[in-house]
Amino acid sequence: MKNVILVVDDDKTNLSLAQRILGPQYRIAAGSSGEAALKYLETHRPDLILLDINMPNMDGFEVMEKLRSDVHTETIPVIFLTADSLAETEIKCFQMGAMDFVTKPFVPDILLSRVSKTIELDQYRHNLENMVNIQAQKITESSLRLGRIQDSVIIGMANLIESRDGSTGKHVKNTQTYVRMIATELLAKGYYTQELTPSYIEDLCKAAPLHDVGKIKIPDAILQKPGKLTAEEFETMKLHTTHSRKIIQTIIGDIEDEHYVRLVEDIALYHHERWDGTGYPTGLTEDNIPLSARIMAVADVFDALYEERCYKPPVRPIERIMQIMSEGRGTQFDPVIIDVFVGMLPQLKEMLEK
Ligand SMILES: [Fe+2]
Repeated sequence: MKNVILVVDDDKTNLSLAQRILGPQYRIAAGSSGEAALKYLETHRPDLILLDINMPNMDGFEVMEKLRSDVHTETIPVIFLTADSLAETEIKCFQMGAMDFVTKPFVPDILLSRVSKTIELDQYRHNLENMVNIQAQKITESSLRLGRIQDSVIIGMANLIESRDGSTGKHVKNTQTYVRMIATELLAKGYYTQELTPSYIEDLCKAAPLHDVGKIKIPDAILQKPGKLTAEEFETMKLHTTHSRKIIQTIIGDIEDEHYVRLVEDIALYHHERWDGTGYPTGLTEDNIPLSARIMAVADVFDALYEERCYKPPVRPIERIMQIMSEGRGTQFDPVIIDVFVGMLPQLKEMLEK
């Protein structure tokens, strides 16, 4: 199929000359004014435009400006036609985005050669653009796939560790859900809006399942003990936070996303800290405890109370859990987070009753 060239010139002699020179190889559409050319372009997309500069009413530069500001025409290659060969005119043509510049009267061989080179170049550009788009799409797809694999490996590993203390593995998924709900609700209520960006919330949810990985180093006798731990056993249990951080540094410490690694480490190390500074392992207070860990603490305790554990039955009804947790407002938990969380009772009930 022949390539289509739109020739725009107010001089009929030039139009028929262009038709004579280019006609054997190309399909020619002729426009005798800038307005006529723009009208034609509303419904057609030629492969090249030969555009005369000096025309009455709307000159070639004006037409060019309109072409470049319309998404439908901005990439059509343009060769300007002009009777003068001044350097300034030539410079302006290229500044306006022309692919080339041909002086009148036409020399047939020069016109043909410029036209065929421009069309060829544009086709290369077009093919290259397609190739880049296809490759970019492939890269996006494989990084998404890689991300999904990474997420399920993390969840699987966390579940495996969690299953050692006899829980059903629901804790990992549940706490991740609660963390997302709390962060979203805090943002909706206008709290911690600086920190809670969409990417922070995503990282937070991905990090949550890793909060207890350090339990892998806690002996079964302590992890699965059906009753209360002795003071000494509790000291060993407390070490799961520092173990978690060390393990995280080993597994993901060298990935490039420093922000994400930091978030996972914070959650793991600080999720048993308390607002009043009586928590472990470091005794940080109030907002010295990273926000991620303060959110995790609320999600973690809620799930521990709601689910059955080897050392305790589940607490019911949910209102009773909220009452117990409210007692930790400003001592165990960040007051803002606990207030927002208690306010989430209806949506939590709805979700859990499903
Ligand atoms: Fe923990």
